[in-house]
Amino acid sequence: MEAAHQDPHLHKQLFGDHFIWGVSTAAFQMEGAANLDGKGVSIWDAFTKKKGKILNGDNADIACDFYHRYKEDIDLIHQLNIPNFRFSISWTRVLPNGDGEVNQQGILFYNNVINYCLEKGIEPWITIYHWDLPQVFEDKGGWTNRQIVNWFTYFVEVCASNFGDRVKNWMVINEPAVFTGAGYFFGIHAPGRIGIKSYLQAVHHAVLSMVAGAKKLRAIVPDAKIGTTFSCSHIEPYSNKTRDINAAKRADAFINRLFIEPILGLGYPVQEVPVLKGIEKIKQPGDDENMRFDFDFIGLQNYTREIVKCSYFTPYVFAKLVKAEKRDVELTTMRWEVYPPAIYEVIKKFNAYGNIKEIYITENGSAFEDSLNNGIVDDQKRLKFLKDNLQQVLKAKTEGYKVNGYFVWTLTDNFEWAEGYHARFGLIYIDFKTQQRVIKSSGRWYANFLK
Ligand code: NOJ
Repeated sequence: MEAAHQDPHLHKQLFGDHFIWGVSTAAFQMEGAANLDGKGVSIWDAFTKKKGKILNGDNADIACDFYHRYKEDIDLIHQLNIPNFRFSISWTRVLPNGDGEVNQQGILFYNNVINYCLEKGIEPWITIYHWDLPQVFEDKGGWTNRQIVNWFTYFVEVCASNFGDRVKNWMVINEPAVFTGAGYFFGIHAPGRIGIKSYLQAVHHAVLSMVAGAKKLRAIVPDAKIGTTFSCSHIEPYSNKTRDINAAKRADAFINRLFIEPILGLGYPVQEVPVLKGIEKIKQPGDDENMRFDFDFIGLQNYTREIVKCSYFTPYVFAKLVKAEKRDVELTTMRWEVYPPAIYEVIKKFNAYGNIKEIYITENGSAFEDSLNNGIVDDQKRLKFLKDNLQQVLKAKTEGYKVNGYFVWTLTDNFEWAEGYHARFGLIYIDFKTQQRVIKSSGRWYANFLK
């Protein structure tokens, strides 16, 4: 079962000596300690307390209790031979009121995490914003309020000036397409707002914040490697009919192009999606210049592909995703299609921009149902997913496409947003009643592979 690391076609060395290997997590999904040591309330703390928002009524008050168990978990990262650890900073743990006074207990916690990583020879990679906006700011409009650019820049300043002496790898914002789309258009993620107006404002302010934050980081930590991360899918039209092909182009603009293109100085993809012209009305003088930044790397996060069909009844995009469960394909717990070539396709797609310096896969992984039997979690489906995806990353690299690293999502089972604890993505199983950790077969495979 674990001899796979000897596979001559999938060997760590084939990726080269400089390839970065890691594992990714996020504060809200892991830490718990929701009200401890001065932490303030985030939009996710508030959202999870609302009825009917999270599967099984789960919340993340305790989550994986990483706040108390960070040493045990960093020891596990070490045991799995993983040299790079990506985690995020909870905004309200370091700034309980969003801005103003810094909570020294919050700073101490992240210093402990960083220092323990370094002690174990593990390189820390920080995501500054992984979706847990302070509720005090949401009460003032959150991402729809242009002031967010200043609020966010101050948060970046606090992170950079406290941790930048030891942390050299930074990601400014995680998956802006998801937190603006799910949080401000569809209302299925925090803060649960719905509508095109709030969505377009959130999008534009996220772009401005990403750039303002990156500039602040550069100023405080001149030798930092600065990136930001984007969700991306491989998109295919449902049929060869022109209307489906055009629908796929529109979906692609929303899903894959909306954030990278302004950053590269190409502006929003308004040609494919005219509703984005609404952003022009929100723009202020000087914004065009403040939408671009020369990032050191772009993080791509891929889980699946999407099949897109024309749909005149779906406003703005006139396209809909054909659900994977209707397509007779293998599904994960998230009901996403298992389709490893998608990661190859997105690497290729982002390479086509030409002027991206480095590309890291900052997330890739899968949720499957796991069971603990006699102390063993034999997750063969996740193991295969991992191998098949790595094979596709290797294919891209071998063909000469730029891809500089790969981070698995995620270390342990954790709080999967609206899906609560139902969707397990970890290399390590958690029994949430006891907080006991058990390395899954996939985790053992990754450890052997990285040895
Ligand atoms: C992307 C997000 O960044 C992460 O928080 C989430 O858990 C994974 N995708 C899986 O859905």
